[in-house]
Amino acid sequence: MRAIVVLFAGLLSASAFAQSVPTPSAAQDRLKALSGDPVALRAAVDAGKKATFFCANCHGEDGISKTPEVPNLAGQNPAYLLEQIRKFGSGERKDAFMQGLIKVLKDEERVQVAAYYANMPVRPSAADAAQVAKGKDLYAKLCVRCHGEQARGNDAIARLAGQKLPYLQTTITRYRDKSGVRNNQLMSIATASLKNEEIVAIANYLTQLP
Ligand code: HEC
Ligand code: HEC
Repeated sequence: MRAIVVLFAGLLSASAFAQSVPTPSAAQDRLKALSGDPVALRAAVDAGKKATFFCANCHGEDGISKTPEVPNLAGQNPAYLLEQIRKFGSGERKDAFMQGLIKVLKDEERVQVAAYYANMPVRPSAADAAQVAKGKDLYAKLCVRCHGEQARGNDAIARLAGQKLPYLQTTITRYRDKSGVRNNQLMSIATASLKNEEIVAIANYLTQLP
């Protein structure tokens, strides 16, 4: 019995771990190859700027969005960006606009778009100081082990630092409520205990980080 429980726990954490790593693909391999090749990276960033001509309507020319509900893409981790583009394309992540728009991008353009936005500078927003202090404590308790000390994530995990406050608030609430718009077991577990006002505090903390 004990062995079965241990085996089950092992399987569960293995599948949870798989959720924090972008789905392997030829596009992810090409993106990775760019990081070791400055000339090819420069060319991809330039091509990415052209390919994002239409995206700029909502996400801004340089990836700083024009509306609070639309996420900033500037400085976001490229592998995470590419993975989210894949998820919109497959319907695993739901958004009427994004699911339609992403279909116009060819595979190579997806890689270029991810490289472009990842190379744009982050622009933090102002936040309420009392909320920031409260959010900082909650972040240290519940989020830091995956998203990192500076909330900049890593290859597989989203940067949260400098993200738009309303977008953060909505997104965290969706994971907590398992609304089906975004499905991630790790995030549902991590946010399960949060009250609405705690989500507001964490979002205030994250939005002002560089
Ligand atoms: C009509 C407005 C609009 C346009 C145009 C648009 N987006 Fe989006 N995008 C959104 C919204 C809204 C979201 C957030 C959806 C959600 O709440 O999950 C989003 C989310 C994203 C995300 C996920 C970011 C994250 O932090 O998880 C990526 C990546 C993205 N868009 C890329 C693009 C690209 C590339 C284009 C151009 C081909 C584009 N978008 C065009 C509105 C837009
Ligand atoms: C066990 C690891 C883990 C922990 C702990 C964790 N996260 Fe996450 N987080 C992830 C992963 C993996 C994703 C990407 C999920 C996806 O693709 O939808 C993510 C995505 C997010 C996003 C979406 C970012 C975007 O740009 O759309 C937000 C916001 C977020 N996490 C906030 C938090 C907060 C706040 C906490 C603490 C309460 C937290 N996370 C704790 C692993 C974690």
